[in-house]
Amino acid sequence: MPEGTSIVTPAVLDRLRKPAGEAGGLPAEAYTDEDFLALENQRLFPRRWICIGITEDVAEPGAVRPVTAAGKALILLRDEAGVVRVFHNFCRHRGMRLIDAPCSGMKRILCPYHSWSYALDGRLVKTPHVAGIDQHDRAALPREIPGLAEVRSAVWGPLVFVNLSGDAPEFEDYIRPLAARWKSHDLSALRRGESCRYSIAGNWKLAIENFIDTYHVPYVHPTLNSYCDMKDHYLVADNDVYLGQGLSNYVPEDEATGALPPFPGLTQDDSKLMEAFGVFPNLCMTLFHDSLRIILVEPDGPNRCTERVEVFMVGEAATDPALAATRKILVDRFREFNAEDIGIIENLQHAFETTAWDGGYFTPYLDGPVHRYQRLIAEAVAE
Ligand code: FES
Ligand SMILES: [Fe+2]
Repeated sequence: MPEGTSIVTPAVLDRLRKPAGEAGGLPAEAYTDEDFLALENQRLFPRRWICIGITEDVAEPGAVRPVTAAGKALILLRDEAGVVRVFHNFCRHRGMRLIDAPCSGMKRILCPYHSWSYALDGRLVKTPHVAGIDQHDRAALPREIPGLAEVRSAVWGPLVFVNLSGDAPEFEDYIRPLAARWKSHDLSALRRGESCRYSIAGNWKLAIENFIDTYHVPYVHPTLNSYCDMKDHYLVADNDVYLGQGLSNYVPEDEATGALPPFPGLTQDDSKLMEAFGVFPNLCMTLFHDSLRIILVEPDGPNRCTERVEVFMVGEAATDPALAATRKILVDRFREFNAEDIGIIENLQHAFETTAWDGGYFTPYLDGPVHRYQRLIAEAVAE
């Protein structure tokens, strides 16, 4: 049995399965222990659809880049037909890592060890001396050698997802509840506006839990609360795919408001909608009438994580240089709140490492999303 399984005991699971007001949360070790992260990399991330990047990471055919998911080295690329594909980052021969850095204009992936090469659709193309000196034809071999090991992948709007185990439900079935909820917003119209990364001294789950927590808004983000009042939020904790909060009257008070192109065809009501969800397990998405912000949270060990923040705006018109100042106002708005949140995440991590944390208490209403999130984590690693 993997070491980390002793952290989510049947008693911890039972405690989390109680209604929020009676439940207790994950133990401190779930946020600090190497073995628990190993368990997440074994049982949580590979068995689900997880976001690993964005389509604009491989904007043109021939673009290839290394990515890591659940501790596994992968290759994200766009093949010559324009299809986004994901492969394991090893050569079929002796396992050499194939791609170490992003590159563009590639026609082939060439193994640096013995020079086997692969087409961008994964086919094994060249195998020098494979059947003897100057005998390059694999047909002479006693068994067939496959191409690159492809990982099941899917594209949704600007996002790329993978399922490493290969046996999760179909992506369309998995994402349908959220796609249906946001059907008025054409995510395929989104274009990358801004991006940044933060390295945070905290466990990756704390970044998600904080994101789906509405309770802290008036106390940590007084500016945000002035036009995005905690009391006006509705909470979403009724499903296992997306958890969080929304507001049907989101009208920020800065110069970016109303200045960027909206999603086409929105109703009056849609244009004041803001919804912010943690898409289980490690993606945060915030949808506005004129943009989508994502935070992809990736573990860097048990005590540290990276937040990759991408802000997408609607259509080519939003990328107009004349709108640069407006885009900056929008992005600065997010940056300010994110900086406030990072302080909270790092403080929580510090507490979990130094106190006899017993899992804490959930309030029955406002902690509903965080309670469900922790239960889903516990169930995933206990499976
Ligand atoms: S390991 Fe790649 S060609 Fe030998
Ligand atoms: Fe926050």
